[in-house]
Amino acid sequence: MSAEIRPLKDGFACEVLGFRLWERLGEDAAHRLRDLWARHPVLVFRRQALSEQELARFSAHFGPLERVVRTEWASPAVPEIGLISNLKDGQARPIGGLGDGELQWHSDQSYIMNPATGAVLYAVELPPEGGTTSWVDLSGAYTALPDRLKDLVEGRRGVFSYVKRLAGYQGVDRVISAEAKQKTPPVFHPLVHTHPVTGRKALYLDSTTTIGIAGMDEATASSLLDEIYGFATRPEFVYRHDWQVGDVVMWDNGMTMHRREPFDPAARRLMKRTTIFLSPERHIVPEGWLATEEAMA
Ligand code: SIN
Repeated sequence: MSAEIRPLKDGFACEVLGFRLWERLGEDAAHRLRDLWARHPVLVFRRQALSEQELARFSAHFGPLERVVRTEWASPAVPEIGLISNLKDGQARPIGGLGDGELQWHSDQSYIMNPATGAVLYAVELPPEGGTTSWVDLSGAYTALPDRLKDLVEGRRGVFSYVKRLAGYQGVDRVISAEAKQKTPPVFHPLVHTHPVTGRKALYLDSTTTIGIAGMDEATASSLLDEIYGFATRPEFVYRHDWQVGDVVMWDNGMTMHRREPFDPAARRLMKRTTIFLSPERHIVPEGWLATEEAMA
């Protein structure tokens, strides 16, 4: 199958043409897409029409699929599909998650020791306005970072905590099961990583979970992180996606942060997503460890 690439934002985001993702991918085509994704952290496919099974089958070409920590947001038909939506079922129960935390720059699963860093998001229903999603290029941002800031973050470990993420959710979304809580203690991840294929360095950041930097007092860490978020999220590093129904966007959370814009809560928005354990041979996959009190000092 032939593929034509259209750059959307430097080499960071690009549209891939000529793929019908509902069809089975041959091994050559899958290999080509795996290679593309390793080099371009955000890939966009337009005009797709996928069942949940087809979305899961396509996603599984890039690594094992994660079953979401928040099981209440999983599709009842295909548990590897997470529903991101403001819609409710016949008994007024939310059919999926739609945290306000998504309005802040974040990287999915940064609070997990071995995060599943691949994500595929498929637009099923969209509000007439708002609800766009943007991604920030954390490799471009690292490259452009002033040397003073590079020196301050290089070799440093951030502390990432799900408790901070939860605080950004509303109502029932704030409540998690004992099992989910036990799976999410605070963890360390290095703040700078090197990409295994391109050799480029990238920041690893999440403004919704990072609560500190090991070996740095809270106030210094917080003002350093704010300065870095401010720099990294400048418009020149951001790709903003104006969704159309049928769009599929896949992104690498090891190289990006993303955020959604608000939309009218009375309008309908339904997105389906998969989460993938990407290969550390092709992607930055942070390997974290437990953030104990002693290790924080
Ligand atoms: C997310 O933050 O993972 C979802 C983004 C979106 O719904 O556009």
